[in-house]
Amino acid sequence: METIAGKNIIIGVTGGIAAYKTLILARLFINNEAILKVVMTKAAESFIGPLSFQAISGSKIGLDILDPVFDSGMDHIELARDADLIIIAPATANTIAKIAHGFSDNLLTSIILASTSPVMICPAMNNNMWANQATIDNINILKKRGVHVCGPAYGELACSDSGAGRMEEPEFIFEDSLRLLSENDFSDTRFLISAGPTQEPIDPVRYITNRSSGKMGYELARAARIRGAEVTLVSGPTNLPGPVGVEMINIRTAKEMSDAIKKKFTDCDICIMAAAVGDYRSQKQSEQKIKKDMDVLNINFEKNPDILLGLGKQKGDKFLVGFAAETQDLIKNATKKLFKKNLNMIVANDVSRTDAGFQTNTNQVHILTEKTAIKLPLMSKFRAAHGILNSIKAMRNE
Ligand code: CTP
Repeated sequence: METIAGKNIIIGVTGGIAAYKTLILARLFINNEAILKVVMTKAAESFIGPLSFQAISGSKIGLDILDPVFDSGMDHIELARDADLIIIAPATANTIAKIAHGFSDNLLTSIILASTSPVMICPAMNNNMWANQATIDNINILKKRGVHVCGPAYGELACSDSGAGRMEEPEFIFEDSLRLLSENDFSDTRFLISAGPTQEPIDPVRYITNRSSGKMGYELARAARIRGAEVTLVSGPTNLPGPVGVEMINIRTAKEMSDAIKKKFTDCDICIMAAAVGDYRSQKQSEQKIKKDMDVLNINFEKNPDILLGLGKQKGDKFLVGFAAETQDLIKNATKKLFKKNLNMIVANDVSRTDAGFQTNTNQVHILTEKTAIKLPLMSKFRAAHGILNSIKAMRNE
């Protein structure tokens, strides 16, 4: 799923100090062209004014079950029926208890009771309230019913305690919600993805690396996770936050990447090597910083193992995808690697371009298999990731 444009989202706001952050969540849905309705409980109104949500969502806010002016013709049954997703953020212990036990004493709880849409709750409360057996039982009831629980996060709480009970950040909630809005066409599929550069140390302060930012691999991991997959991302050093819901393994050298990939490979269905693995490492690593005594410094480099070549030899029925980073003869060189490394697919990108390949937010890729060659236009790396996943899906379904 590349976009949530046109999806019907209901955000329910209940009475917690984190309610102000829900404005940012609402903005994220609006910016991504979702159709948003906001419903607030009476308690929520003590923390934030309905007018703020109205300004962001561009439509009237649902406040009361008997509100005659709330979107004429849109009663709570209709609202519940039309929703692609209902998110309660923040979700207080009180509202969690009510929906766990089927109460319908306000507009929000009535919508939840009348709805068959996916529901996501983002708990926010004092840490002792979160740890209370009553809340634990209520959360378990909701989880069993298929409600998705996002958070709470650990940290400083409004009541000056700290512990588990903070509402997750709006960006995290938004990202987590995308999976609930997708078709989940990769559910029950385990991905192993590598990303980023490797760093090969020379001495304690110096290393050799390459220009990979890791963005393409991270967007692949993100897209696969949104589409329902279980994803492990083995990443070299990058400046990127780990994608929501993805298992992260951080490594530094090609050897560490090789060890991590080998460990996880047996458990995966699809492996995508998007990492720019360093081909060479320094033969010797000086224990102390190398001093600038010599006018010419010679360092000998020895070859790193080719991880993907090794995987190709033991791939069995796994689907193996490589990337080809080229500066010349793109298709010819990539095709050679496809066969040499025994891959199902190779994604070729020209890393000499300024709008594609390394360190950009966009990419222009060729998806090559034994029988097919698809050239995708220049697009965001997130869209390119979906394009690659679409091709993998089509080929696996053949
Ligand atoms: N790769 C790997 N281990 C290495 C080098 C590369 O697993 N030591 C993987 C990359 O992750 C990528 C594919 O092999 O999926 C091709 O990498 P690329 O750098 O394009 O080519 P190389 O095989 O390294 O060959 P060359 O550098 O000569 O182009």
